[in-house]
Amino acid sequence: MRGTQSQQAGSALQQPPRHLAIIMDGNGRWARKRGLPRHHGHRKGVEAVRTIVKAARELGIAYLTLYSFSTENWSRPRDEINELFKLLRIFIRRDLAELHQNNVQIRVIGERQNVPDDILSLLDEAENLTCNNTAQTLIIAFNYGARQEIVQAVRDIAAQVKRGELDVEAIDETLLDSSLFTAGIPDPDLILRTAGEKRLSNFLLWQSSYSEFVFVDKEWPDMNAEDLAAALEEFAARQRKYGGLAEGSGEETAVRN
Ligand code: IPE
Ligand code: IPE
Ligand code: MG
Repeated sequence: MRGTQSQQAGSALQQPPRHLAIIMDGNGRWARKRGLPRHHGHRKGVEAVRTIVKAARELGIAYLTLYSFSTENWSRPRDEINELFKLLRIFIRRDLAELHQNNVQIRVIGERQNVPDDILSLLDEAENLTCNNTAQTLIIAFNYGARQEIVQAVRDIAAQVKRGELDVEAIDETLLDSSLFTAGIPDPDLILRTAGEKRLSNFLLWQSSYSEFVFVDKEWPDMNAEDLAAALEEFAARQRKYGGLAEGSGEETAVRN
């Protein structure tokens, strides 16, 4: 058993998920447990972002998506929204140069509507500066909602049909895929959520059809490189079947015979 576990640990290091997507949750609870206002949790959460981005790069994860603000988060108090926006500004201003030096490409997914102009400019700057980088793609899901993303894709496709540029028969999964914010990005292999909640909260609904899920009880501000490595070990022990039969189970041959 022990041997198996260490083999699994080894394979986690050799074969990390190509795309890891994280629902960073629990900043508010982290603060509340310490008798602090919620924004302390968000600030500490940014430190965890730095730690995990670096650790993911070192572990060889090619695509890392961070859910930083959902379309539903607009329902929070204005003060908290302002604080979250402030922290995003600080993160881009402080960390962009280092991310660029580390050959990280930044992509932003989400709606631009309602986002302050200066944040849009910062996000554009980050994408433009790093667009030729190749070491890792860091995808920031900001003002992101999966249902809205799908609706927008359907509208784009419908408009092409209406203009006579596209046949209805030509609408397929590949076309829908390439009409989403995530065009060109492989589907997440692993979706990790912190703080014990076990739901998607409108995150990557289309893209997660065959993702594995790992739920971590720790709140996001407490996540460290070891916790990430443990989540990857759990992922490495999973068997992905995509609707088929388990590899090496012998069942596949039995069916064919
Ligand atoms: C995650 O922490 C940050 C965002 C959703 C922006 P929360 O703020 O959701 O923290 P909890 O869930 O209230 O503890
Ligand atoms: C999901 O967390 C959104 C982000 C991490 C940005 P929430 O805290 O908003 O999700 P719910 O409300 O608990 O489902
Ligand atoms: Mg939450």
